[in-house]
Amino acid sequence: MNLSDIFPKESISKKFNSEISIQERGRKNLNEIANLKTGCMVEIGGGAWDRYVQQNPSCDPRALGSFFDDGSPKLYLAMERLTGLKVLKDILYTTAHVIDESLEDTLCAELLLAVTWPNVLRISDVTFINPYGPIPETERQYHYQDYKGLGLFPELLENCEKFCSENDIPEITLSAAYIDLVPFFESYGFMVEDTPAGRAYLELEAGIPMHKVLKNA
Ligand SMILES: CC(C)(COP(=O)(O)OP(=O)(O)OC[C@H]1O[C@@H](n2cnc3c(N)ncnc32)[C@H](O)[C@@H]1OP(=O)(O)O)[C@@H](O)C(=O)NCCC(=O)NCCS
Repeated sequence: MNLSDIFPKESISKKFNSEISIQERGRKNLNEIANLKTGCMVEIGGGAWDRYVQQNPSCDPRALGSFFDDGSPKLYLAMERLTGLKVLKDILYTTAHVIDESLEDTLCAELLLAVTWPNVLRISDVTFINPYGPIPETERQYHYQDYKGLGLFPELLENCEKFCSENDIPEITLSAAYIDLVPFFESYGFMVEDTPAGRAYLELEAGIPMHKVLKNA
C-alpha cells in the first residue's frame, strides 16, 4: 500500500452521478504543492520541528525562527539542513472535482498527506464536501462548514491506519483547523498534543495539533 491508496477514490465516485476528475501531485511536484498549500507546508515543517525541540531540549527553539516568521514552505528543508535528518519522507496532494459545468465550485475532496520525521503520517489537509449541498450561513453549526460532508472520514482513517500498519508508522498527526473540530477528531481517537504548542494553539482555538498513537505500534 502507498500514499495514493489512502484517498477513498471509489467511495467518492459513488457519491455522485457525474464523473469525478482526480489529480495527484507528489514529490516531483513539490514546488506546485508549496504554492498551492503554503500553509500546510509550514505546518508540516513546524510540526516536525516542534517534535524535535521536545526531544532535544538543549537545542535553540528559535533556530528556525525566520522561516516561521516568513511563513516559509521551506521550513522542513531548513530543518533538514540544520539537523541532517530526513524531515519530509513522502508527500501526496490529491484533489477530486465533479465534472459538471452547472456547478460553480466543483471541488468535492482534497487530501494532503505527508510522511514526516520522526515517523508519522500527517493528514495535513482534508476536505470531503458535496458541492451540490451548500449549507446556508444561518444553518451552519460550525466554522468551515460551507457544504454538507460525504461521511467519508471513517474510511479515510481506516485507510490511513492500514497504511501505517503496513509501513511500521506508529502515529497519525493532524491540525484541527478550528476548535469545534476537536471533538470530531477526538471521537476517532485523536488527542490534542500535550505540548507547549498544543496548549498554545488550543488557547488560540485554531490550528490545534492533534495525534493518534496506533494500538499496534
Ligand atoms: C471534516 C470533514 C473532512 C469530515 O468529512 P466527512 O466525514 O465526509 O464529513 P461529514 O459532514 O459526514 O462529517 C461527519 C460529522 O462531522 C461534523 N462536522 C463537519 N464539519 C465540522 C466542523 N467544521 N466542525 C465540527 N464538526 C463538523 C458533521 O456535522 C458530521 O456530524 P454528524 O454525523 O453528527 O452530522 C468534512 O466535514 C469537511 O470537509 N469539512 C470542511 C473542511 C474541514 O473542516 N476540514 C478539516 C480541516 S482540519
